[in-house]
Amino acid sequence: MPFIVAIDGPAGTGKGTITKLVAQDLGLLNVDTGALYRCVTLEVINRKLNLENKKEIIELMDEINIQIKNNNGEQTIYLNEKDVTYNIRKKEVNDLVSEISNISEVRQKITKLERGFGKKQDIIMEGRDISTHVFPNADIKIYLDATPEERAKRRLLQNQEKGIDIPYEEILHSINKRDENDKNRKEGPLKLAEDAILIDTTNMTIDEVKKEVEKIINNKYNKKIKNQEIKKTSIKKDAYKQTKVKLIIRKIIKILIYLFYCIIYRVKVLNKQNIPKTGAYIICANHVKLADPPALVVTAKRHINMIAKEELFHNPFLAWLGYIFDVIPVKRGVQDIEAMKRSLQVLKNDELLALYPEGTRNGLKKNNGKVKNGAAFIAARTGVPVIPVGIKGSFKPFTKVIINYGEPLDFSRYQSKQPEKENLEKISKEIMDNIIRLTNE
Ligand code: DC
Repeated sequence: MPFIVAIDGPAGTGKGTITKLVAQDLGLLNVDTGALYRCVTLEVINRKLNLENKKEIIELMDEINIQIKNNNGEQTIYLNEKDVTYNIRKKEVNDLVSEISNISEVRQKITKLERGFGKKQDIIMEGRDISTHVFPNADIKIYLDATPEERAKRRLLQNQEKGIDIPYEEILHSINKRDENDKNRKEGPLKLAEDAILIDTTNMTIDEVKKEVEKIINNKYNKKIKNQEIKKTSIKKDAYKQTKVKLIIRKIIKILIYLFYCIIYRVKVLNKQNIPKTGAYIICANHVKLADPPALVVTAKRHINMIAKEELFHNPFLAWLGYIFDVIPVKRGVQDIEAMKRSLQVLKNDELLALYPEGTRNGLKKNNGKVKNGAAFIAARTGVPVIPVGIKGSFKPFTKVIINYGEPLDFSRYQSKQPEKENLEKISKEIMDNIIRLTNE
């Protein structure tokens, strides 16, 4: 079940900014539901539909396709394949959106769309009725509030920065009007859910609110994981035990996959000698395709303990393979203490640990050149050297795949129990620079 964070509250409480920042920090999918109502409103304006003619507006709902693409928490909104991220914030849309969002059929369709987002992955969704109506069983419900005067003041400052000149009184009036409309509509009104946590942001900075929200999410997330783990402890306990049967099965599967990769993918390994025969090392590669982690594991002479996203373990066959190969499942987007403990144990045992600093396939491209600092953190925490690996190839049958190992990189100069972010970024950069160089050699 995905983890769902619902953030509700009136306009001007900083919901949008907070949600975006938290999504970026914790790797959650950010869904701004106001944008969905804004898309419908923009289409009503584009088609010059009469507001009195509800039938036409309702019919329109079957003809529009709204998509949200997320890039590191930043949303791009597409309406019928056209990027409308900026157009939906125009004044004409602002003036009409509340009225459009009062139409019951519009709300039903948008609600269906919103629930669809929560089926696939962990999300943070902001709006008015997320805690009360869209996801009444959300893992976390937060209601952000602030006095109308404070919200009007914030909007005035925002407008001034953008060179928009609307008097304070007019802004305050518009905020009060929208509050009234949002709170008093029949369907999906804005209200504080019984089990929601109220944060009054009137005297708080954005950073303070963000920290508070992240604290709430991290506490709850870790508790949820702990509960799941308590249920699974009997499996977990033996998960990494090296039984004879397990080692034999691993050897057989390793040979089979190795043959398959050599014949079908024509995998070639360069500079294998860069993996020393003994001792702890962290192996960091670029992540191209789903097929590349097994390629690393089956072509290496030493056993590689791979870290992989926990979602893979939802598939029983992959979970079994994970068990055979001692794969360490990691929850993405939060601090997964169990995964970290196991990783440190692997290195303590003088074994090889492999992970992808990009976090996800082609993560460097997807996140505009930024990578996760997980690998860097383990390197800095333990002082264990990192072996960079460049993987080149498309993993299409009978084309070539090259795995190129670089020389171990020593980061022991940064070793610390609590490494600084600045150093982690330096380490991540050096690792990625080496990986990129190795893919181009
Ligand atoms: O958050 P926003 O200002 O972009 O929202 C625009 C309008 O959409 C707002 O006036 C109320 C409406 N809305 C809603 O009715 N339900 C939601 N879940 C989100 C927004």
